[in-house]
Amino acid sequence: MGLLSVMEPKTAHPLEHGDDNQEVEDLLSLLPKEGDMVASDSYKYQGFWYPLILLKGVIISQKHFMPRENDVFIVTAPKSGSTWMKAILYALMNREAQLPQSPHHPLLHKAPRELVPFLEVLSPSEYDSVCNSPDTNARIFSAHTSVVSLPKSVTSSLSNCKIVYMCRDIKDIFVSLFHFINKSNFRSSPISLEEAFNLYCKGVNAAGPVWDHILGYWIESQKNPHKVLFLRYDEMKNVPKLQLKRLASFLEKPFSEEEENSGLVDEIISLCSFESLTKIDVNKKDNSVKGVSNSSFFRKGVVGDWKNWLTPEMASRLDQITEEKFSGSGLSL
Ligand code: A3P
Repeated sequence: MGLLSVMEPKTAHPLEHGDDNQEVEDLLSLLPKEGDMVASDSYKYQGFWYPLILLKGVIISQKHFMPRENDVFIVTAPKSGSTWMKAILYALMNREAQLPQSPHHPLLHKAPRELVPFLEVLSPSEYDSVCNSPDTNARIFSAHTSVVSLPKSVTSSLSNCKIVYMCRDIKDIFVSLFHFINKSNFRSSPISLEEAFNLYCKGVNAAGPVWDHILGYWIESQKNPHKVLFLRYDEMKNVPKLQLKRLASFLEKPFSEEEENSGLVDEIISLCSFESLTKIDVNKKDNSVKGVSNSSFFRKGVVGDWKNWLTPEMASRLDQITEEKFSGSGLSL
């Protein structure tokens, strides 16, 4: 059966090139395949597991994506806080044209995922139409792709693209992912915590294994700190002002003294906070795009919720894998 004929309409990727379809189809038959948390097959590509919809986007972007000077990529393992980072980066990059306290600010009317698209779900003809940082002529994309599979045109030291990587406590990512999957309409019946946990430990989840994902970007951020900024969810929570200033400097758009004195940094933090975003109508919507509604990107937004869900055995198993995987890297979460 042909690849496109086995795909549900909601997972159809807007492929435009017949050659790409054929190429992906040929490749699929060669890749390791396993049933994943969303009750479909995931494929292992360049060391990472992807459901078909993401995998196609990864391959297509490797082939067709052409970076522009100063494009910015927010990369995360799913459920590490990409929605939050989308809001922050959008508000930060557009702060001159769109004052954060304006009642017309786009974040008050559009969901972060509408303002900052996932690279993997765009078709090549849509790359160019992304216009979400007009003042800088840069585009802001988000992605879940591992560092080894991002388009070389993006990761190459010859390009000026910047990558903002957001990581989070592995246990909190898992708990967030578990709830997200059961809230979305991917599956006909909910997945149990135990089943989800076993797949997660094996790395069979979108862009998993999560440890390798985080480690890959960590190493790049150490080698090339001007290209990859490594942020942590808990630090964004605990010291948001410091992290936002770090981010602005990394993007070569540091806050001026005047901006700082005017309270702009605090205004961006407040606009993008969990409390503010979840009060906005568009983010409360149970609309479904590709099986996922805007509201499912917001749950609790706290650090340490894993304590309410994981048994001590589960927590220590994840900690043990983390310790083993990160050993000698200088990274601890
Ligand atoms: P929880 O499920 O732990 O609440 P992603 O955006 O990468 O899909 O991650 C979703 C996680 O980020 C969810 O975590 C969600 O609640 C949290 N989140 C969304 N917006 C946030 C915000 N403005 N501040 C902090 N956390 C946020």
